[in-house]
Amino acid sequence: METMSGRKVLVLGSGGREHALADALLASPSVAEVVVAPGNAGTSARPAWVSGGKSLRCATGEGLELARRERPDLVVVGPEVPLTAGVIDELTREGFLAYGPSQRAAALEGSKAFMKDFAARHRLRTAHYAVVTEVEQVESRVREFEQPPVVKADGLCAGKGVVVAESHAEAITAAREMLGGHRFGAAGRRVVLEERLLGAEASVHAVCDGERAFVLPAAQDHKRIGDGDTGPNTGGMGTYAPAPLITAELAERIRVEVIERALAGMAADGNPFRGTLFAGLMISPAGEPHLLEFNVRFGDPETQVLMNVIDGDFAELLASAARGKLAPDAIQVAPRHALCVVLAAPGYPATPVLGAPIRGLERALELDGVRVYHAGTRSDGAHTVTAGGRVLGVTARGATLAEAHALAYRAAALIEFDGKQLRHDIGARALGPEVR
Ligand code: AMP
Ligand code: GLY
Repeated sequence: METMSGRKVLVLGSGGREHALADALLASPSVAEVVVAPGNAGTSARPAWVSGGKSLRCATGEGLELARRERPDLVVVGPEVPLTAGVIDELTREGFLAYGPSQRAAALEGSKAFMKDFAARHRLRTAHYAVVTEVEQVESRVREFEQPPVVKADGLCAGKGVVVAESHAEAITAAREMLGGHRFGAAGRRVVLEERLLGAEASVHAVCDGERAFVLPAAQDHKRIGDGDTGPNTGGMGTYAPAPLITAELAERIRVEVIERALAGMAADGNPFRGTLFAGLMISPAGEPHLLEFNVRFGDPETQVLMNVIDGDFAELLASAARGKLAPDAIQVAPRHALCVVLAAPGYPATPVLGAPIRGLERALELDGVRVYHAGTRSDGAHTVTAGGRVLGVTARGATLAEAHALAYRAAALIEFDGKQLRHDIGARALGPEVR
């Protein structure tokens, strides 16, 4: 039964995450139509691998006004900014079924001080910390840490509010700048100082209904622009899943000690969490999972691989979570691997140069098992051109991680635009150095 209930889904956002979500929602048996707003050049037409009779298109407009016009059966919100601004509360008040956290629950990502206080109260293992609000307190609070602390602006900073300081002096300068300067605006009115943790990072996503969670396979992101984790931080240059770092035993501990404990804590505090709880974890050399951060949405580019290691009706999973009655059997974790290589514009992350025509998309898409998710792209009449720092997420499926890796890089090599940047070592940590 291809279009059982003929559900219409509205996806809010414009990145690679939203393209990957839109494709997975469109492929869901219960869905007939997906509208993405504002979307990008990739979300304007049904992909060839989704069978006919379904439609994918872009729309313009703001959350509530758009929902009133489109009358979707389900709204899925991609980015953190509208979530922390309360778009889910607005949509729900008006009777729309909207997947994502309430504004109060979204504070788990919106305020790092809120998250740290919450973690301490509910016994989530996380780094020792201090919250500072006055410039005059910075020096003495920083010196209380034996090793130089990590400095974090309290609010949302699009991934730019964290300084991993190499010395106490650097930490003091960073914290003073955040509190005293205007660069971080309201987000920098409070600063969290945090013990620096060592180990390997992993991202664990859970689809939550307020009480229960469906935990997805662990993924690993590559945040620095350069091979071997060098150069400045980016939004993420590539991912793979499942991440072998997270063994079955560790995954079970993360489910119980991080995800379920957080859900119970949020419910006990009167803020039940519905939506995607994305735990950024540091696995210590002794194998202990420590919570670095919570995000209240799907990761980008984690989503690009996660959508390729599940089968079933993803739309039904999200709709059931939004209703508060999670249907965990709606999807199954597939016995597959996926790897995503981000192609970025020249000058990214500092000053991306945009407007270059993109060639070779069709050839890459001819490869079986390849999905090319658009991020910063737009259609210029005849051509697809670059329109954002991260341009495309070239993603491949494979029976093994090595297969997914080979296929993703084969596809990435077929796509060209002036000054194309990519990392050559996505997945190297799991595959061993010989792949580089
Ligand atoms: P966040 O936005 O909190 O995830 O921080 C961004 C990045 O900074 C993380 O992905 C880590 O690489 C790093 N980071 C954050 N907190 C810590 C910490 N306590 N110890 C070591 N690295 C950290
Ligand atoms: N890839 C990290 C994030 O979405 O926050």
